Parts: sequence; structure tokens; C-alpha cells
Amino acid sequence: MRLSYSSVLAIAVALLAVIAVKAAAKVEGSNETASAAGLYWSNAQEEGDVDISTFAGEWNEDDVDGGFSSLDGMLQWAIGHSDPSKLKETAEDVKRKSPDELKKRQDEIKELIEKMKMPSDAELMKIAIDDLNNSSLPWEDHLRALLELSELVEPIDNANDLHKLGGTLVVVKELNHPDSEVRTTSALVLGKACQNNPVVQKQFLELGALSELLKMTKSNSVEEVLRALYAISALIRNNVVGQQLFYGESGDLIIQDLLSKSNIDVRIHKRSVSIVSDLAESQMENPSYPVPPFFSNPLFLRSVVDLLASMDLDLQEKVLHAVENLLRLQSGASIFKEFCELDAALDKMKEQLQRLAKDDQHGEHATDVEILRKQVQQIYADKINKVLEST
Ligand SMILES: *[C@@H]1O[C@H](CO)[C@@H](O)[C@H](O)[C@H]1NC(C)=O
Ligand SMILES: *[C@@H]1O[C@H](CO)[C@@H](O)[C@H](O)[C@H]1NC(C)=O
Ligand SMILES: *[C@@H]1O[C@H](CO)[C@@H](O)[C@H](O)[C@H]1NC(C)=O
Repeated sequence: MRLSYSSVLAIAVALLAVIAVKAAAKVEGSNETASAAGLYWSNAQEEGDVDISTFAGEWNEDDVDGGFSSLDGMLQWAIGHSDPSKLKETAEDVKRKSPDELKKRQDEIKELIEKMKMPSDAELMKIAIDDLNNSSLPWEDHLRALLELSELVEPIDNANDLHKLGGTLVVVKELNHPDSEVRTTSALVLGKACQNNPVVQKQFLELGALSELLKMTKSNSVEEVLRALYAISALIRNNVVGQQLFYGESGDLIIQDLLSKSNIDVRIHKRSVSIVSDLAESQMENPSYPVPPFFSNPLFLRSVVDLLASMDLDLQEKVLHAVENLLRLQSGASIFKEFCELDAALDKMKEQLQRLAKDDQHGEHATDVEILRKQVQQIYADKINKVLEST
């Protein structure tokens, strides 16, 4: 038997209600283990904040015939589709019942679950995709549908289904939505679906997603820029075709621009510099591709090296990785010496790290970064010496 959307929702709401009662019971200091439909779970971690994951794992999978990959998935989905006031009302209702009535209710739910075939992830994806394809729905519904998709595309099999279901096209369309939050969430879906997945990367690249994402990096919203960078990184990582497109669409100039802005959120610098590292690494792994001029552009290299002066250890570490990869790509190191003043930057960094190493909070991290700094200095010295020997 296949139950309708609304029956699944009703059951999910009933389950949520029992959890809500459990949470309420905790507030009142009770320490009973609540159960419904033969389910047992531990106390919610915080008052009013029901941690579904704590009991999802205790769900007896045999009770569910196919469908949702996890109870957690179904509940997350149900929360998104439920009216909060209705949920509260149901919880109140369950709370008033006597133990006998509750037991009867549990048996009913259990029976329903046994009879029911849960909707599959593919069906849930389809519902979300249909909502996204419906332009008469308000942006809030699009946002909700995208948030659902962002969870659903995490398993690789689901990500692989996205295109077949028409999802890649609607997601790319949403990258152009007038609302920044919708665009941002759409980039999240894209990024998650593309992660380490060359098939999905190719599908999105062919739909022109990269130019939409590059446009988003010029947004006034920091969150949107960050998400766009995250998605770009997932889209072109280890993907030479994607990287050629990226250069072709002047993605390198955009990154250079972001790196050279000083009054910008440090997270944007971190993401940008990680993209630089990945690109340089990919270039080393694919030496048959011509080295893009980007990598020997003095202004670009200077903007990377200048970030070594940052006070953020995590950023410094990422910049060192990028400098290391960029050094390895050069035949010499004269740009780094003369134009970027890498010697001075590394020396200054050494002093700063020595100070930080004595700090309780950052000491350990600073010590790790210093090891990396030394390594970079060595690579740099070797490059300079090699040039001296050959002249
Ligand atoms: C809750 O009940 C369990 C089992 O009876 C018991 O082990 C635990 O100590 C109790 N916790 C509190 C906070 O009373
Ligand atoms: C789009 O959404 C509206 C409002 O919910 C609904 O009436 C309409 O049937 C939907 N269109 C399609 C094609 O699903
Ligand atoms: C989106 O809607 C159009 C009609 O409005 C339809 O032709 C198309 O197949 C739909 N796409 C998806 C993925 O459902």
C-alpha cells in the first residue's frame, strides 16, 4: 500500500507530537522514557530543542518498508511541511491522554507505519523540484524546497538522480532568483550535489551554472558571496574542463579582486585562497594543460603573499598552502623575491608565530603553522638557489 503525501505527513506529525511531549516532560522534570509506536529515545538535549538525531538511530529499520533513508530524514521533511500551531495542538492533545489511551495511540501509529510505504527520497526530491518549477509559488516556498533539496542531495545516489528528475535545471534557474537568500540556498544545493561528483559537476557546467555563480560573487551580501565561492569550488574541483571554463570566464580576475580587497570578511579571503590552492594543485597534476597567465601575474601573486600578514591563523595557514603550491608551479622565484617581497613576509610571520606559540589558546596551532612556514621557506630558498646555480 502506498499512502498519500498527507497521510505520511499526519504520521510524521503524530510522531513529532510525541517527541514534543517528551521534551515538555523534561521541562517539568520527569524522567520517564517515552515511547510511541514501539520507539524509544533519549531525552532531548535542551529544553524545547528536540534533538531528533538522538533517537533516529534507535528506530527499528525493519518497521519501515523502503522509502526514507532514515527516520531523521522523514522528520526533517515533516517539520518543514507542518504548521507549527497544529503541531503544538497535537502535542497538547497527546499530553492529555491517559497511559492506556497513549498505548492505544502507539499501537495505531505502529500499525499505520507497518502498512505504509514511505515516500522515497526520489519522490521527496520530485515534490521539491515541482515546487521550484512553479513560479506562482512565493519565494518562501522556493526557499523551503531548496532547503529540503540541500539535505536530500547529500547521499551520492540522490545527487545522481537530481538531473534525471529535472532538478539541475531548476536549481540553476534559482541562482538567478531576485531574492538573495534563494540564490544563496540554491548555491548550497549545487555545492553539495557537486562535491566529489564529476557526473553532477558536468551536468551543472553544461547548464551554465558557473557564470551564474561568478555573478553572485559580486553581491553585496557576504553570505551570498561565500556560498557562491563554496559552490564554485565544488563545481570545478579536480575538474579540468570546469577550470578551463573558469579561466575563460575571468574567474581568476574575480578571485584576484577579492584577495586584494582589505576590508572584506576574512571568510571570503579563506575561501578565495583555498580555490587558488586547488587550482594550482590541479595544474601540477595536469601538466599538459597550458599554465594560465594568472599564476605568474605579479599583482595576483602579491595579493596572495600580502595576506600572510593577516592576524588570523587559519587564513595564514591557507595562504601558506597556496604560496607553497604557487612556488612549485614557477620555474624560478624572482617574482616572489622582487615583487612580492616574500622574504620579508615570511620573516615577519615567523616573529608573529613565535609570539603566538607562547599563547595558551593558540599555541598549538601557531606551532603547526610555523612548521608549514619553515617548509615554504625551504621550497622558496631551493628555488632561489637553483636559479643562482644555473646563472
Ligand atoms: C533517569 O532514569 C534512569 C533510568 O531509571 C536513571 O538511570 C537516571 O539516573 C535517571 N536520570 C535522572 C536525571 O533522574
Ligand atoms: C503551482 O502552485 C499553485 C499554488 O499552490 C497551484 O495552484 C498550481 O496548481 C501549481 N502549478 C503546478 C503546475 O503544479
Ligand atoms: C516545469 O514546468 C513546465 C511547464 O510549466 C514543464 O514543461 C516542465 O517539464 C517542468 N519541469 C519539471 C522539472 O518538472
